[in-house]
Amino acid sequence: MTSPYWEDPDAGLQLYLGDCRDILPALDLGADLIIADPPYEETSHTWDRWPDGWLQAAAPVSRSMWCFGGLRMFMRYADQFRAAGWHLSHDTIGKDDPDDVDVVWEKHNASGPNNDRFRRVHEQAGLFYQGAWRDVYRQPQRITTGVIERGRVINNGAKSISHRGSYANNGWTDSGTRLMTSVIKARSMHRRGAIHPTEKPVPLLLPLVRYGCPPGGLVVDPFGGSCSTLVAARQLGLRAVAIEGSEQHAEAAAHRLDTLALPIA
Ligand SMILES: C[S@@+](CC[C@H](N)C(=O)[O-])C[C@H]1O[C@@H](n2cnc3c(N)ncnc32)[C@H](O)[C@@H]1O
Repeated sequence: MTSPYWEDPDAGLQLYLGDCRDILPALDLGADLIIADPPYEETSHTWDRWPDGWLQAAAPVSRSMWCFGGLRMFMRYADQFRAAGWHLSHDTIGKDDPDDVDVVWEKHNASGPNNDRFRRVHEQAGLFYQGAWRDVYRQPQRITTGVIERGRVINNGAKSISHRGSYANNGWTDSGTRLMTSVIKARSMHRRGAIHPTEKPVPLLLPLVRYGCPPGGLVVDPFGGSCSTLVAARQLGLRAVAIEGSEQHAEAAAHRLDTLALPIA
């Protein structure tokens, strides 16, 4: 039987040490959302190698998955995503709803050493799904604005401003909120006490998890690293399982989870 390397049973959090291609089938989980940050093969770290077969191992776990990566990675492995049955958000052609659910993470520092191209300050994440799009849980994320229009009914019926509130028969009502944009600015963990070279900041993960996981749900992270996903899940009161292949990283993550003061969101 597979035992957790670290766990907090009260919070419903578990970390497993091992290869996600072995651990995921062994756990036989039914999760609401996967947050995957696989090796992009962009560095010389020994762990930074794409594990063929992980997309198949993840497929029975959840119908919904945020996957981080870069354009090069997504293009290189597009066939593997398709072969494992993962579609990029609302995968339709010729419908009037062509927007992908994808985000750009804009960080405060550049990640590459090259000076013959644009200073690279972003990474991407896309929402992939299995089965029918209508069955995929989606909770649009909104931010509050300083605009003093809350409750004001605008009688122009302009549909292009739906992100500001709700429609009425003869206009729309400003909710005082706006849909979050697809570019999320969050400081990277560079020189901010990171315990993993590609550690994702928790503020970046929070809206992604909220978007794809219902209250009380279960999140699975096959490439746990520093276990930022477990920290985010804990803040949101969700259950979560992470898997990490390197004992060194798993040990550091377990220490983080033990010692971190975990604020309630
Ligand atoms: C891009 S990092 C993830 C970083 C993580 N999102 C964070 O915020 O710290 C990928 C991680 O996956 C681990 N890994 C690589 N192959 C794996 C596999 N087959 N199974 C489980 N973990 C693996 C690596 O050791 C590395 O820590």
